[in-house]
Amino acid sequence: MATRALSSVVGGKPVVEDFEHMQSTNPAHLDDVVADVALASAATFTDACRVAKAAQQSWADVPAPIRGRAIAEIGRLVEANKETLARLLTREVGKPYAEALGEVQEIIDTCDFFLGEGRRLYGETVPSEMHDKALFTYRMPVGTVAVVTAGNFPVAVPSWYLVPALVCGNTAVWKPAEYSAAVATALYELFVAGGLPPGVLNLVLADGQATFAGIEAGLSEHVIDKVGFTGSTAVGSLIGELTGRHIQSACLELGGKNPMVITADADLELAVEGALFSGFGTAGQRCTSLGTAIVHESIHDEFLSRLVDRLEGARIGDPSEDVLYGPMLDARFATRFEEYLDELIQPHHRLLGSAHTGRITPDHPRDGFIGDPAAGVFCHPTIVDGVRLDDEIARTETFGPMIGVASFRHFDEAMAIANCSGYGLSAAIYTHSPERVFAFRRRISAGMVSVNNSTSGAEAHLPFGGNGKSGNGSRQSGKWVLDQMTRWQSMNWDYSGRLQKAQMDTESITADRNFRLVD
Ligand code: UN1
Repeated sequence: MATRALSSVVGGKPVVEDFEHMQSTNPAHLDDVVADVALASAATFTDACRVAKAAQQSWADVPAPIRGRAIAEIGRLVEANKETLARLLTREVGKPYAEALGEVQEIIDTCDFFLGEGRRLYGETVPSEMHDKALFTYRMPVGTVAVVTAGNFPVAVPSWYLVPALVCGNTAVWKPAEYSAAVATALYELFVAGGLPPGVLNLVLADGQATFAGIEAGLSEHVIDKVGFTGSTAVGSLIGELTGRHIQSACLELGGKNPMVITADADLELAVEGALFSGFGTAGQRCTSLGTAIVHESIHDEFLSRLVDRLEGARIGDPSEDVLYGPMLDARFATRFEEYLDELIQPHHRLLGSAHTGRITPDHPRDGFIGDPAAGVFCHPTIVDGVRLDDEIARTETFGPMIGVASFRHFDEAMAIANCSGYGLSAAIYTHSPERVFAFRRRISAGMVSVNNSTSGAEAHLPFGGNGKSGNGSRQSGKWVLDQMTRWQSMNWDYSGRLQKAQMDTESITADRNFRLVD
């Protein structure tokens, strides 16, 4: 298949720069080079922010319903190109094709939700304490948004930032993960084809270091008004620190160690299905992937044997086939995953799910593997049974096809393990007890709670985000993300022709405070 030559696009023009090059390869067939990518320097990133800043006022001047039309057109274009985009997604990051189609659908859903926001973006009229004076609130675009996204959802998650940012009248600079540069460029092209004027959306292909330096310079120059970041907690914390120094709060969507509590009365088959999908779907590389299944001791053995059965029989391999999961997104994730296996597994743990752990290779094969494991970067699935509250694995996001299983007797023990990691993104409970559901919802630290459903697979119009190490309280999606992409402006208009002083020139009422009813 063809190799694309890609570069950043700023102000509608490709950036010609001989800074650094990399290749984006198909993780299922490493000899398939998807793109040859010219990486940009920090200076190019900052320059893109200047261009976006210069384009912002005229974009904000476009009536919001017309900006909504652009979002509608983008949605239709993504829909018309759904299969092509999904195929490229599967080729570049190895996401199974069915999931890739789901990811593209998430962009369409996001456009469908926000196209109408152009006709809302409601402000309020507020009563004044004085005559002949009117009070209003308006949602103002924040300005220029720098968006930095990960490669596990290389097009859906960026759309969660870009679509609301644009409809609200912001301009944007988007830096996708380098190893998903081709599918990111395809999405950029669809956005531009939707009718965005040059400079409104700019694409910068750069590594992390150049991006960070570019953001730092952009913040100092006041050409970045908001940073949106989806990625690791370690980098999120650096971005939070940097934006904080510039009196800004970033929109941070970080890692998770997502628990699933399964009570004694749960529908066991449903829970097994949920654990299989959220633990191993996308090879465990979602921020919402299952971390630890916390199972009541009375059903622990049955749950485990059913899950192991399903996992041992699961089809793993070529992502263009019907598989539970394909390759790791990129070789670097396989390397880190193997390190986690070395660091976190302890003598009291029992490993299940495959004949081996770590990379699937001709020497460490997996029964029933679909395709050639040596051609790409594939990992064995691993269930780590016997996880305890004080284990490092109970609090470490492993970002790979691995889950822990712990057991509990009392609900309090389950809650302690569920909350022990310091993350707080997504959490699930499988139970038939309303009392347990509400106790779990009240006590869990997560921003998103699933009942009798897996930890991953959130719908695109509910607030998405986490607490603690998973994020700084910002929420994406639905109407809630508007608070990230706009700032409230209040206006008061005194048409009395006099200076009426608030709190001083107001009418008073007279109350008889000693009044009492007579029996
Ligand atoms: C992510 O992994 O960064 O809820 C986002 C889900 C997806 C999005 C995950 N809709 O699993």
